[in-house]
Amino acid sequence: MAENKSWVLMVTAQTPTNIAVIKYWGKRDESLILPINDSISVTLDPSHLCTTTTVAVSPDFTHDRMWLNGKEISLSGGRYQNCLREIRSRASDVEDEKKGIKIAKRDWENLHLHIASYNNFPTAAGLASSAAGFACLVYSLAKLMNVKEDNSHLSAIARQGSGSACRSLYGGFVKWIMGKDDNGNDSIAVQLVDEKHWDELVILIAVVSSRQKETSSTSGMRETVETSPLVLHRAKEVVPKRVVEMEEAVKSRNFPAFARLTCSDSNQFHAVCLDTSPPIFYMNDTSHRIISCVEKWNRSEGTPQVAYTFDAGPNAVLIARNRKVAALLLQRLLFHFPPQSGADLNSYIVGDKSVLMDAG
Ligand code: DP6
Repeated sequence: MAENKSWVLMVTAQTPTNIAVIKYWGKRDESLILPINDSISVTLDPSHLCTTTTVAVSPDFTHDRMWLNGKEISLSGGRYQNCLREIRSRASDVEDEKKGIKIAKRDWENLHLHIASYNNFPTAAGLASSAAGFACLVYSLAKLMNVKEDNSHLSAIARQGSGSACRSLYGGFVKWIMGKDDNGNDSIAVQLVDEKHWDELVILIAVVSSRQKETSSTSGMRETVETSPLVLHRAKEVVPKRVVEMEEAVKSRNFPAFARLTCSDSNQFHAVCLDTSPPIFYMNDTSHRIISCVEKWNRSEGTPQVAYTFDAGPNAVLIARNRKVAALLLQRLLFHFPPQSGADLNSYIVGDKSVLMDAG
């Protein structure tokens, strides 16, 4: 370390969120966050829904601290502690010649961190904020501490912060392989295709409500696993086949197959939520009206133009087959759900898909 001098070393990174088209819902191990099925997602454009995180280390810091959207939060939770421990244990020597800083591998155990993280979208409103958040935390810490492992290994660490976070370490379409090992080392994310592979797709998010959801994903999926007779059938019989078909649809850019699988999987995920005791309602009347609207349109065209999917909240993620369809879709949404109509649809976010990138 630099002798008797005060110094701060910082790294900033930006990570987009991802939206699952084959959903993860249910864990077989709560503390390691190991899922009961594979899942597939698409990573969004960081200019619309992303987390920016700055991590700093200094000999002057007396303990690890973190601020989320400007407010200090506790790092005592197991998920943060697991990520910090895993990253620290893989840290390497770091040297910044300009600042005259040298940090040896063994020093990292005694150095403390300050972490500041911002989401440019509503936190915990079913827009996968924890996915972008933990992926960005792990990625920026790995850069700061000169962790040599690739994104796939980092994904297994981000997974221990929030399951869906492991998929945000890559752009394009990403598969989270559930893995078989009890230690979770093979429960990792892999990129299926990069963001350029299917660049005609346009993703539009209709923000039905930016209020914080009543049932978190974590507790919702726990209740589902404990009480739903349908969820095991989904995990064992339905999803394995769908994952194969979805990979094929994505690789061959087969939009009709992609749309059919995406919509069916979203509907089955919400069916499993309804099958939970007590039932969990994430969608509302506006969400249902958006589904009807898209279904009618797809039927009238004879072939799907738009796919819809809803996570643990009422907001619609709509995937248009190309830009022309996206423009028509926006027109239709504005017609059926005009702003201030009382339909509670307050904004639309449009974006392409994109990659993880360094901002610092
Ligand atoms: C509906 O990853 O937020 O968005 O692992 O408990 O943190 P934890 O849950 P989380 O669940 C995401 C659920 C989902 C589907 C998905 O993203 O696959």
